[in-house]
Amino acid sequence: MTHVLTGIFERGGKEEIMSACSFLLLLSISSLCLNANPGIKVKITEEGLHFGMQVGLEFLKQRLKEAIFEDWHGEDTSGLSGFNYTVSKIRIQHVQFPGKSLFLIPATGMKLLVHDASAIATADWRFSTWLLRSSGKLKVCLTGVSISAAAKVSKDEDGHPKLLLENCHGNVDGIDIQLDDTSRWFYRLLVNLLERPLRNNFNLNLCPIIYSEIERFNAELKQHQNRIQLDAFAVIDYSLVKPPSISLASISVDFKGAVYSALNRTQLSFEPDPFHLPNTRDFMLYIGISEYFFRSASLAYYTSGAFDVSIEKELSAYFRLTTETFNNIIPTIAFYYGVSNPVMMNLTVTAAPVISLHNGRFLLDLSGSMDVLVVQTNFTTNSMFTLNITAKTHINMIIFEKNLIPTLCLDSFDLALAHSTIGFFKASIMKNFMSYILQKGVIPAVNVNLKDGIPLPVLDTMVLVQPTITMYQGYLLISTDAKLKPTNIWKHNHIRTF
Ligand SMILES: *[C@@H]1O[C@H](CO)[C@@H](O)[C@H](O)[C@H]1NC(C)=O
Ligand SMILES: *[C@@H]1O[C@H](CO)[C@@H](O)[C@H](O)[C@H]1NC(C)=O
Ligand SMILES: *[C@@H]1O[C@H](CO)[C@@H](O)[C@H](O)[C@H]1NC(C)=O
Ligand SMILES: *[C@@H]1O[C@H](CO)[C@@H](O)[C@H](O)[C@H]1NC(C)=O
Ligand SMILES: *[C@@H]1O[C@H](CO)[C@@H](O)[C@H](O)[C@H]1NC(C)=O
Repeated sequence: MTHVLTGIFERGGKEEIMSACSFLLLLSISSLCLNANPGIKVKITEEGLHFGMQVGLEFLKQRLKEAIFEDWHGEDTSGLSGFNYTVSKIRIQHVQFPGKSLFLIPATGMKLLVHDASAIATADWRFSTWLLRSSGKLKVCLTGVSISAAAKVSKDEDGHPKLLLENCHGNVDGIDIQLDDTSRWFYRLLVNLLERPLRNNFNLNLCPIIYSEIERFNAELKQHQNRIQLDAFAVIDYSLVKPPSISLASISVDFKGAVYSALNRTQLSFEPDPFHLPNTRDFMLYIGISEYFFRSASLAYYTSGAFDVSIEKELSAYFRLTTETFNNIIPTIAFYYGVSNPVMMNLTVTAAPVISLHNGRFLLDLSGSMDVLVVQTNFTTNSMFTLNITAKTHINMIIFEKNLIPTLCLDSFDLALAHSTIGFFKASIMKNFMSYILQKGVIPAVNVNLKDGIPLPVLDTMVLVQPTITMYQGYLLISTDAKLKPTNIWKHNHIRTF
């Protein structure tokens, strides 16, 4: 159990993988294997898209402020005279997007509409006509900026998702230029002359900026691994089983969502059952994690030996057992081991825990064996007897911060005597004793190991708002809203962490 439920979604130390622009990363990483059922489904509703758009525009704002633009230079004419201009060191100081909306285009992609955006930029300028030459600094306020951009959501040849800018229009309405030196006699003239080339250049550059941001985003997705090593034991396959499907009201993303043993990457012998997320739209984000996902994790950790962790020391130290403790239960022990020798218990999981999800319940069946050993005065150990244990447990899940945290609860268990060097006895006489050991020792120890939980696939910059967990037949559903972390969100190093 220790590792089964802890490593999931961790990605080889790249905790910040779900970084700023990667809200759309939920659409990410696809494989060529089509028409397979997913192990994890994510649905982003309209409200979630609205949130995603805000994240995206905040990101764009930051990128614009950091952007280094090429110089603009050219020849223009005004009235009778021609002039040459150069505008260099263009820096965007301030951007605002008060009016914005994002629409889904069913089966295709999405469309972003921005209106009344404004920006302030600074630059150096140089100007020459046959008559005069001058240079200085300028500040330009752009108002009434509108952008309409439609992007197709598709897949590249490696099976990564890809955004394709299908059409784009950008327009700057108001442009107000201020030069640094207002005293020059030709100030007004210069401002008037520079307005047209500046307006043209800004208009011409709006869509290329959007295009290059999308290309950059695609490049980052392309670098992203589909298979991620979780820890020494397991690898998770986060590829898409098909391109994201887009309806009027939501985007659905189907992930392979399977965990493989890091040592033995053979295909799983079982397939995910189809499942459908409920048709509700009350939350921004729905994450459906199938029974298949948990079963594959259970198997992966079992086959790679993550359960071969004997807990004999922990348990024995905690209970300080001696042969005397057992004398009351199994009197024959006194015959074999007269003195009060220390006793150790060695618990081994003998099969991958069996996981099943039902309406309202997450069940986990464990099979193991408990070897009870006596420690001789010369420190050699002898097995006294071995009990087979089959335990029925259920798991309660809570979400704390961004982790899904399971807690194991014992429902019932059965014992069978598998082996004994102290004569036959009925395993049932050990029931009370084992109940105590399981309840007070084993289960709490497992829960301590599970306490970090499963990091959920959400943005670094995101805070989950009132997430709820519901167990359905065959899958677990997380329904949640999100908001942005209030502080320091847009630091550059948060953006390029893939
Ligand atoms: C502008 O520059 C070009 C090439 O540098 C030059 O041929 C032209 O005469 C210049 N025009 C003016 C008005 O200075
Ligand atoms: C890998 O797993 C398969 C079945 O899951 C098994 O047949 C095979 O022996 C395993 N290989 C190794 C090297 O453990
Ligand atoms: C506990 O069980 C494991 C697995 O069967 C075994 O490798 C280990 O040696 C055992 N420990 C003791 C002290 O017998
Ligand atoms: C340890 O003590 C037991 C019982 O006294 C004995 O049977 C066993 O041979 C001893 N082992 C060693 C390695 O001395
Ligand atoms: C105990 O479990 C093992 C498998 O781990 C099995 O082979 C054996 O038959 C079981 N013994 C009893 C008495 O149930």
